[in-house]
Amino acid sequence: MPVIGVLLLLTFLFLCHSSVDAEILHQQMKKTFIVHMDKSSVPESFDDHLQWYDSSLKSVSQTANKLYTYDNVVHGYSARLTVEEARLLEGKPGVLLVQEDKKYEVHTTRSPEFLGILNNQESFPDSGTSSDVIIGVLDTGVWPESSSFDDKEVGPLPPGWKGACEASKTFSSSSCNRKLIGARFFSQGYEAAYGPVDETTESRSPRDDDGHGTHTSTTAAGSTVVGASLFGYAAGTARGMAKHARVAAYKVCWLGGCLSSDILMAMEKAIEDGVHILSLSLGGSLNDYFQDPVAIGAFAATSKGILVSCSAGNGGPSRGSLSNVAPWITTVGAGTMDRQFPSYITLGNGKKITGESLYSGKALTGSLIPLVYAGNISKASNGNLCMKGGLIPEKAKGKIVVCDRGQNPRAQKGLAVKEAGGVGMILANTDTFGEELVADAHFIPTAAVGQGPGEEIKKYTFSDPNPSAMVESGRTQLGVQPSPVVAAFSSRGPNLITPDILKPDLIAPGVNILAGWTGKVGPTGLPEDSRHVNFNIVSGTSMSCPHISGLAALVKAAHPEWSPAAIRSALMTTAYSTYKNGERIKDIATGKPSTPFDYGAGHVDPISALDPGLVYDTTTNNYIDFLCAIGYSSSMIKLIAKQEHQCKTGVKYSVADLNYPSFAVPFETASGPRGGSSAPTVVKYTRTLTNVGGPSTYKVSVSQETNSAKIQVQPSVLSFSTPNEQKTYTVTFAATSMPSGTSSFAHLEWSDGKHTVGSPIVFSWT
Ligand SMILES: *[C@@H]1O[C@H](CO)[C@@H](O)[C@H](O)[C@H]1NC(C)=O
Repeated sequence: MPVIGVLLLLTFLFLCHSSVDAEILHQQMKKTFIVHMDKSSVPESFDDHLQWYDSSLKSVSQTANKLYTYDNVVHGYSARLTVEEARLLEGKPGVLLVQEDKKYEVHTTRSPEFLGILNNQESFPDSGTSSDVIIGVLDTGVWPESSSFDDKEVGPLPPGWKGACEASKTFSSSSCNRKLIGARFFSQGYEAAYGPVDETTESRSPRDDDGHGTHTSTTAAGSTVVGASLFGYAAGTARGMAKHARVAAYKVCWLGGCLSSDILMAMEKAIEDGVHILSLSLGGSLNDYFQDPVAIGAFAATSKGILVSCSAGNGGPSRGSLSNVAPWITTVGAGTMDRQFPSYITLGNGKKITGESLYSGKALTGSLIPLVYAGNISKASNGNLCMKGGLIPEKAKGKIVVCDRGQNPRAQKGLAVKEAGGVGMILANTDTFGEELVADAHFIPTAAVGQGPGEEIKKYTFSDPNPSAMVESGRTQLGVQPSPVVAAFSSRGPNLITPDILKPDLIAPGVNILAGWTGKVGPTGLPEDSRHVNFNIVSGTSMSCPHISGLAALVKAAHPEWSPAAIRSALMTTAYSTYKNGERIKDIATGKPSTPFDYGAGHVDPISALDPGLVYDTTTNNYIDFLCAIGYSSSMIKLIAKQEHQCKTGVKYSVADLNYPSFAVPFETASGPRGGSSAPTVVKYTRTLTNVGGPSTYKVSVSQETNSAKIQVQPSVLSFSTPNEQKTYTVTFAATSMPSGTSSFAHLEWSDGKHTVGSPIVFSWT
């Protein structure tokens, strides 16, 4: 009894003082911080920088231990500290920045969709050296048993490979082979934040419990697999973009997310291991470059000749929704391909509508089945969404239920219908999704339809006294036009960090992509999904990014000496932004032509990228000049470049001079008494082209849809006679004043009759 009394008293006290206690608890709570040090200023009293790092840490906390020490991507370490300790540490000599660990997420629209990576780009040359290119994939790990990791097609391990295959209970060291040449996992940041990995649900190893990492890595460099499909959909021969390249998996994303402390360590290791390309289908909140761990890590990688390809994000179609926008990163948006998975609806009034689905089970029998709208047969106010347990079984039994898209996973809506006794589903887009169709591996016969057809079906359901319908699966359809179209979810420009650098850089297939999958979860990823598939069809800029990573590997194989900037330039200047009929690539979110804010330089054209004629090359020093141009202090530059650099006082640095393969030109809207009638604003951009073809003469041409700006290129002819010869030109943009928020677009092209070196131009008035 007395014991209970004490307990009650404690509870009572705790309740009385909970807010104070919470504050104290908060102050004492340790979090992970990344500590950036000025390595160049190690005091002489220390034997080495590591000892110095330790001493700085010990000066604020006797008990803190380092999680990781970074040498390449960051000079510094990560450690668990209280907010107070972190603040103290930031004031110590030689400490540049103490930054709280950040959470990143993978960039897939979280439930599968469709279309294949397979046969669209069949004619890549398979150069012998492509076998030596190593793609490091930072993701959820890999399912090494996937047939896409078969190593029959590749030779011995590439020379210089220093990576490892980290074995554990759930990952054998023999899981790696000549295709999957490395596999590591980074969990210290994750475990410090969330506690030890629960090995009953998640593998504390490079094993992929999610599917995402297996999908992205096999998209980039999976081996040829004949007869791949998801339940017969998208059937054909599956292969990664660079089927001879090698994969090194770095597991940084766990079921609860990906932490920047782990990501940085993985980038550090990948650089040491000797990868040539880094593929990151993940992102976090948008930050200034010196506070953006991925941008910081990518700088180190880029300056060592490693191309870093990142997903642009799935924040579209909202403007300014991009992540991973640093100019040394290749930022990849997503488009569709020419493949669909139709599902046919027949309404009781005879009307036929085509939707999409990847349902593969038993078909519905009979001709017409009673049809209801979920909003009319639910217990809750959001019943139209078909939440689990939300439908009234007596009213759903034996019927096809119309559910609205949004909130819960799409395939889970079908489960809710099934659990209520419904037999089929029509999944209707609301205005957020427009006409973007997403096909999932549903549990019951389903057709996903756009907003327009969805409204029509609902109208019929409400007006007919006995509404009925039929839903039937179709077969994979090829040759769908127009294609590509920009995916609604693909994140859009402008670049909110540096508006004068256009992002995304380009788009690649990211809708309904077929690639390898984990054996751990079914194709929908839902806990109820006990199906096992070797391949799955999913969507997201997560899927487009590894396409570019793989294609960059092919360009690298053909031109081993090219810098990351040269490879990106080749991919960008040969990309296309119009269909064969000359119309601009459409945006599925609006049905209208899209703009460079949506697709950057355009959609990748791998074959042309192998022979671009000219490239815009960029060095580490050019990027540092860029950092000077955006006004970074020398300590901000040190955080990114890990080197001492004073921007020269007499030099006028300009973002316009970064040798980028695209042009983004922000203008200020004239304001003041005379409003928009001021003289044109004139800006000058400088670019240097490097000849990577034979002797040739290029002529410039500029096309423009409106006359909001005058564009003048000097000189207008460039002749190259030797390989690697460089020629510089300037572009003068003279803009008339336009209302704030206006944008207009143009295209600049150098051509020698054989090669076309194109660049998008974007004007925006702010
Ligand atoms: C079903 O729901 C719609 C939309 O909420 C409404 O307009 C309609 O009257 C409802 N029908 C019935 C029979 O309740």
